[in-house]
Amino acid sequence: MAAQTLGFIGFGNLAKTLYHGFKDDLFKHNIRLLINSRSTSANTSDLPDYVSKNTVLADSDVIVIAVKPQQLSSIMPELTAINWTNKCLVSLLAGVPLATFKQTLPGLTHAFRVMPNTAAQFKQSMTTYSCLETTHSDYEMFITSLFSSLGSIVKIDESNMDFSTALCGSGPAFLFQLFQDMIDLAEAEGFSTQQARLMINQIVTGVADSLNNRSEAIPTLIKEICSPKGTTEAGLDFYQTNKLSDIWKTVFQTAKNRSEELSKKF
Ligand SMILES: NC(=O)c1ccc[n+]([C@@H]2O[C@H](COP(=O)([O-])OP(=O)(O)OC[C@H]3O[C@@H](n4cnc5c(N)ncnc54)[C@H](OP(=O)(O)O)[C@@H]3O)[C@@H](O)[C@H]2O)c1
Repeated sequence: MAAQTLGFIGFGNLAKTLYHGFKDDLFKHNIRLLINSRSTSANTSDLPDYVSKNTVLADSDVIVIAVKPQQLSSIMPELTAINWTNKCLVSLLAGVPLATFKQTLPGLTHAFRVMPNTAAQFKQSMTTYSCLETTHSDYEMFITSLFSSLGSIVKIDESNMDFSTALCGSGPAFLFQLFQDMIDLAEAEGFSTQQARLMINQIVTGVADSLNNRSEAIPTLIKEICSPKGTTEAGLDFYQTNKLSDIWKTVFQTAKNRSEELSKKF
């Protein structure tokens, strides 16, 4: 049952990022790639040729759906016209439950909902996935191995997908916003944009390396930076007094609520 042909329906930003990340793996394992997308104008020499939707659907055993959620209805007639019993569906669509596909696609037995993030372009994606209980383990091995080549992948219960979308999908944007605030502050203190950016880049790299190389709990890492009545403690006191932890959690909670709202539309 190992996949021999991987098909994409929709080949925009995310699909192209994924393709560049795992094309070497596909080549190594002799897996053919078929692509269909609405416009082919962005087709460049380093991408495979585009084919018709019917060819992707007929000839692929694993089919990745990579259109925007609001574009799903435009491809549903073609998706419902084939028998899915011996095919595997991989949906990248944020907010679309697997039940939507299960209820609509004839014979659908093997299906994944996969949520990578934009760090896939540097092979640093935190990808989460869930799948139908009936999905064959060979497909699961294939999908986890494919997405492992783009970073880390974790299986979650589909009921946690809205939170995971907020944490792993939107989370990087919230952190970028925090870094921008730090850059703005540094500039206001007289540093050049270039200096401020360098400082942020190096701080983030150092923090990421600490997290990846040290096994201690994060409060221990914080404590190491603090000295009694010092600068860090002063900043952290303000953080706690003003309940910034609660505010941060609300940012993610708000994103999760929005994901739930969007899911209800399907
Ligand atoms: N971007 C992310 O970071 C991210 C992360 C996780 C999940 N996702 C999910 O990934 C999906 C794709 O997102 P994206 O950012 O890659 O969007 P995108 O760049 O707009 O890509 C969507 C692609 O689908 C094509 N398309 C639209 N209707 C079609 C149709 N009827 N038949 C064939 N192709 C069609 C579009 O063609 P045109 O070029 O003609 O518009 C476009 O190439 C979304 O469902 C999103 O929820 C994205």
